[in-house]
Amino acid sequence: MAKTTIAFPFLLLFFTSLTLTLTPTVAEDSVYPTIPGTQDTGCSLANEVPPPIRREVYADGRIYDISHRITTQMPAFGKVEGIGQYLWLPVSIKNGSRSNNSEMKLGSHTGTHVDAPSHFYDNYLDAGYDVDTLDLEVLNGPALLVDVPRDKNITAEVMESLNIPKGVRRVLFRTLNTDRKLMFKKEFDSSYVGFMEDGARWLVQNTDIKLVGIDYLSAAAYVHGLEAHLEFLESREVILVEGLKLDDVPAGLYNVHCLHLRLLGAEGSPTRCILIK
Ligand SMILES: *[C@@H]1O[C@H](CO)[C@@H](O)[C@H](O)[C@H]1NC(C)=O
Ligand SMILES: *[C@@H]1O[C@H](CO)[C@@H](O)[C@H](O)[C@H]1NC(C)=O
Ligand SMILES: *[C@@H]1O[C@H](CO)[C@@H](O)[C@H](O)[C@H]1NC(C)=O
Repeated sequence: MAKTTIAFPFLLLFFTSLTLTLTPTVAEDSVYPTIPGTQDTGCSLANEVPPPIRREVYADGRIYDISHRITTQMPAFGKVEGIGQYLWLPVSIKNGSRSNNSEMKLGSHTGTHVDAPSHFYDNYLDAGYDVDTLDLEVLNGPALLVDVPRDKNITAEVMESLNIPKGVRRVLFRTLNTDRKLMFKKEFDSSYVGFMEDGARWLVQNTDIKLVGIDYLSAAAYVHGLEAHLEFLESREVILVEGLKLDDVPAGLYNVHCLHLRLLGAEGSPTRCILIK
């Protein structure tokens, strides 16, 4: 996937300057000093191309990108140094190839990602409950973005106080994590807000929620990392979407669309998620 998406958009641009970049570099500067692109074969193309626009919101505010950009500086669960270098360019134009073709290495729970039931249940792993088995209907449809009280982790009492109506099947929980900009800090912070065991159990037993979205790397509070995950994943009906970017999105009702990779055998996968008004 990385190969085609990275190489392809530049292919057309590339062909227009093919003759220039592939001409032997030896005598270029002296023979054609005024032809753009012959001065420095490495950077010539980049200099002519306007900088790309990077957006969080599309379609005049109707579409919100709620996935985090994957960067070397983003946090990884339990790590001080962030995810670090994840992308390499073994084949590159600068090294004489026709195209740039990168390779990447990522933890499957990097950035905005989904958890499959096999993440915390070994017997589900053996039985094949990987991310390829997650229900796209749960990951796509009407969703409520709610603000959680900022002074507590998500307990049963907090869940009850949110008064989420029966019938609501997808909820994105915005917490103190967003205010603290934790997903933008390289160093993992175990004081993030998440579900306590009783909060997860309350949700499973008293609501129709099947998609649980949260704004840091784990839906479970650090102290209940195991227990809350076990509550959520036991039924194999609840899908956790973790590491969402909920900054500057008004609370309310949207359509959520989350599409992860079909990584056979994987208990997690990075995912792209958007909200549409
Ligand atoms: C291609 O790779 C070079 C490094 O060889 C890099 O500087 C350049 O930005 C890349 N171009 C594109 C279009 O990605
Ligand atoms: C080009 O290849 C050489 C030798 O493998 C390597 O040392 C260098 O880093 C490469 N440069 C780029 C831009 O990929
Ligand atoms: C939530 O729980 C974590 C431990 O998992 C704790 O460090 C943090 O202070 C708690 N947050 C709030 C707002 O109570």
